Amino acid sequence: MKPIVFNNTVLRDGHQSLAATRMTTAQMLPATGPLDGLGFGALETWGGATIDSCLRFLNENPFDRLDQLKAATPRTPHMMLLRGQNIVQYTSFPDDVVEAFIRCAAKHGMDKFRIFDALNDARNLRTAVRTVKAAGKHAQGVICYTTSPVHTPEKLAALADELVEMECDSICIKDMAGLLTPRITHDLVKTIKARHALPVVVHSHETAGLALASYLAAIDAGADIVDTSITPFANGTGQPDTVRMQAAMLGHPRAPHYDTKVLLELRKYFEGVAKELAKFMSPANDRVDSDALSYQVPGGMLSNFRTQLVEMKMADRFNDVMAEVPVVREALGWIPLVTPTSQIVGTQAMLNVKFGRWKNLAQATIDVALGKYGRPPGTVNAELQALACKQSKQEPVTGRPADLLEPRMPKLREELAAKGLPVSDENAVLYAMFPRETEAYYKPKPAAAAPAPKAAAAPAHNNSSPVPGRASRYVLTVNARRYETTVEEMN
Ligand code: CO
Repeated sequence: MKPIVFNNTVLRDGHQSLAATRMTTAQMLPATGPLDGLGFGALETWGGATIDSCLRFLNENPFDRLDQLKAATPRTPHMMLLRGQNIVQYTSFPDDVVEAFIRCAAKHGMDKFRIFDALNDARNLRTAVRTVKAAGKHAQGVICYTTSPVHTPEKLAALADELVEMECDSICIKDMAGLLTPRITHDLVKTIKARHALPVVVHSHETAGLALASYLAAIDAGADIVDTSITPFANGTGQPDTVRMQAAMLGHPRAPHYDTKVLLELRKYFEGVAKELAKFMSPANDRVDSDALSYQVPGGMLSNFRTQLVEMKMADRFNDVMAEVPVVREALGWIPLVTPTSQIVGTQAMLNVKFGRWKNLAQATIDVALGKYGRPPGTVNAELQALACKQSKQEPVTGRPADLLEPRMPKLREELAAKGLPVSDENAVLYAMFPRETEAYYKPKPAAAAPAPKAAAAPAHNNSSPVPGRASRYVLTVNARRYETTVEEMN
């Protein structure tokens, strides 16, 4: 009996679930040494919302973050969360953009790619899996766990067969809403392990207080790896805390051995980070919310909902909107609720409550109903699909959605050049997903300090190049410390 392996998610899902993805690279770096020494199966450091957050809120280049984290933790494989054909955005991208993104991430050191599709449509995973394999990296295929009349354990396990057929290196049961219960987890893991020799990873959220118990059941059923995090970026809507999970396995034949003393030091360190991020910290940390079980929506979606309803002056309609969520889900073929479908279903539920059911269709609702995101697990409501066809003057798509998309990389490079932005595959894929944010990132920032003479002589990073007549942004390394500066022509 092999000891269970823990992945650690504190540098990605931990702060995405509990601190609105606001942890900066500077806040991560002091923890990297101890994290690297603990012997985790992988460190989840990238992907999900972190790339968006780097550009939108933190003024960081996501690839620079990956470079720095990779250099600081050379002993542990890095893992990222990839939304299949959506990359790390909300809509489908052409194959060439997906391929370029993966090649860039692999080049910057990403080792394991955890790849999911919000609809569990395996066709949306193929390009990503193929490209990861071609880059010589680890492709982890994902089964998004959800509950609905069409999500039987057999059907979910059948998706594992497709992932194996695609030559995935491992399988992840991803429970973004914390809905897995111990018995179901046990049966699901057992079924997959009985059919396939691949490692099985279980990823859950402690939203409803069931993740730790479900992990124990998964471990007894033969799961190979579970994801844990570090308090205060653990528990609540995040993964179970590593120390807590290890304690729960005391005396278990598969108990792991992660150094508790180091883990407690890390906890102390991250408590300091949480203080710095206080205004973003979710009150759901260390709280068990059984509402998630009755509403069957991810915890993050619940808190977003409350904020959005207040903004829309609909705070008193919370229960009506929550009751509308399963109606919208069923009409859209019981799609799982995970980014981006959780946002799509949530928004449409609000529109239905505010304007009357299907009176006002969001564009994304129309696209899902027309099959533009892929094949939903169930059947799309015929009336809703007819309405979507009529409003969009389009017919439903039955093939793989990305087959309808033209290659974009050459055009993206042209656009970068036309805007005076540094032309690279890295910038092209960032620009494809976050055009405004990428452009803003390279804009001169006000109050930029003049570069130190020594720094100017030693630019170690050529990601940004000067453009005549424009202010240019440089990342400089001086005595192993990194500085960012803006140089402007003064004439
Ligand atoms: Co997660």
